[in-house]
Amino acid sequence: MTTVITYGTYDHLHRGHIRLLERAKALGDYLIVGVTSDDFDKQRGKINVQQPLEERVAAVRATELADKIIVEEYEGQKIDDIKRYGVDVFTVGSDWMGHFDYLNEYCKVTYLERTQGVSSTEIRSSKRLRCGLVGYTDYIDRVYAECALVNGLEVAAVCAEDCSMLGEGPLGAPLVTADYDEMLGAVDAVFVYSHPDRHYGQVRRALEAGKHVMCEAPMAKSAEECDELFALADERGLVLMDSLRTAYSTAYARMLLLIAGGRIGDVVSVDATCTSMRTNKPPFAGRRDMAWSSMAAWAPTALLPVFQILGTKPDSVHISSLCDAGDRTFDEFSRITIDYSGAVATAKVGAGAKSEGSLVVSGTKGYVYVPAPWWKTDYFEIRYEDPADNRRYFYQLDGEGIRFEWVSFLRMIAAVGNGLTGEEVLRREGGIDRAVTRATCEAIGAFERGEGVKYLKAGAQHR
Ligand code: CTP
Repeated sequence: MTTVITYGTYDHLHRGHIRLLERAKALGDYLIVGVTSDDFDKQRGKINVQQPLEERVAAVRATELADKIIVEEYEGQKIDDIKRYGVDVFTVGSDWMGHFDYLNEYCKVTYLERTQGVSSTEIRSSKRLRCGLVGYTDYIDRVYAECALVNGLEVAAVCAEDCSMLGEGPLGAPLVTADYDEMLGAVDAVFVYSHPDRHYGQVRRALEAGKHVMCEAPMAKSAEECDELFALADERGLVLMDSLRTAYSTAYARMLLLIAGGRIGDVVSVDATCTSMRTNKPPFAGRRDMAWSSMAAWAPTALLPVFQILGTKPDSVHISSLCDAGDRTFDEFSRITIDYSGAVATAKVGAGAKSEGSLVVSGTKGYVYVPAPWWKTDYFEIRYEDPADNRRYFYQLDGEGIRFEWVSFLRMIAAVGNGLTGEEVLRREGGIDRAVTRATCEAIGAFERGEGVKYLKAGAQHR
C-alpha cells in the first residue's frame, strides 16, 4: 500500500484545493491530509485565515478524498508524521517547489501543478471593507502599514485635524481630509485614534452614520456614555470595540489563561507600568494640547490586566498624578492604586517620563513576570519560590499585535453580518469584554472629574 501525505490551510476550500487532493489521492492508495491549526498559522505569519480549524477540517472531510485527517501544529511536524504513518509520498502544490526537498531523505517528494486563477487569498479579498483611519500620531502610520497585510481591507480614507502631522503612508490614502463627515461618506468602518477628548463624539457620529467602529480605549469618559455607545451599536447591528493591541498578543492571552487555571494560586496583586517619551518629541514638543497625557496615553493599557484578572468592580480607585502646574493641566506621571476585597493593584503610567515597563502578577503559589515592554510582549515567565520550578513561555508576535486586532475586527464585522449579536461575537473572537471597556471609561472619566485624585506638582522638588 502506498501512503501519501499532503498539507494545507484549506481556508474557504476551493477547486484548486480539490484538484490538488484528487491528484494527491491518485499518487497512492491511502491519503493523509494535514490541516494547519489556527495557532500554527498565526505563528508562521498566516494571519488572515478566516475559517476556524473545525470548519476547515469539515470542508476537507466533505470532499471524501482524505482517508485520514490530521492537524499540523508545529514546525518540523512533517518529519514526525512521515515517520509515524510510514508515508511513501509527500506532495504539495508547485507554489512550494523546492521548499520541501529536504523531506526526500524520508520519502518521495512530488510537487503538483498549482491550479491557476484561484486562491484562498483572492476569495478573502473579494469582499473588501473600506476603512477610514482617524488621528494624527505616528501610531496611525504604523496602523496604515499593518492594514496592508490584512486581506479584505482597504484604507479608503485618513482623517486628521492637522494633516501635516501625518506620515508618508497615510498621506498616500485615496482620501486625506480634515473633514470627519467627508471621511465617513467614503468608508464602511472607522478606526478612531484621535485625541481621547474627541473619541465619544466621533464614535457616536460614526455609529449614527452606520459605520463599524474600532476605537482607541477609552471610547468614552463615563460608564453611561460607554453604555450609550454600545446600545447604539447593537441597535444598528454594528461592531463597536476597543482598540488595545495587547489583548491580541498570544503571549498575553495565554498568560491570562494560565492565571485563570490557578498556576500562581490566588492572585493577590497586579502591578503594571507603562511609560513613553513621545510627548517630548516632535510633532508634540510644544503642542501639549494635541498630545496624550500619562493617563490618556497609558491608563487603558495598564488597567487592562488589572480589570481582566481581578475584575471590573474594585472597592476603590485612587490616583496620584504629577501635573505640569500642580493642577489639572497635563499629567506627566500617575500612579493608580486599585483595591479589591482580597487583592490590590497598581498601575503606573507616564508620558514624558521613563520607567521599567514590566508587568508582575503575584499569587499565593508564585508570580508571573512579563518583561518590558509587557504590552507588546512575546514572552513571560512563571516564577516560584524554588527556581527549579520556573517556566518560560514564548509566542511569536508580529506587528505588535496590531494586525491581529484588525483581523478580529474584520471577523467580528462578518459575524455580526451573519446575525450574531455584538457581545456574542466579542466572546467568540476573544475581544475585550464590554465590562472591561466600561470600567476603563469609568476610571478615566473619574480621573478627569477629579474623583479620588491627588494632583501633585511635577518636578517641585527641584524648584
Ligand atoms: N493549491 C493548488 N492550487 C491553488 C491553490 C492551492 O494546488 N490554486 C494547493 C497548494 O499548493 C497546497 C494546497 O492546495 O498544496 C493547500 O493550499 P493552501 O495554502 O491552503 O491554499 P491557497 O489558496 O494557496 O491559500 P492562500 O491564498 O491563503 O495562500
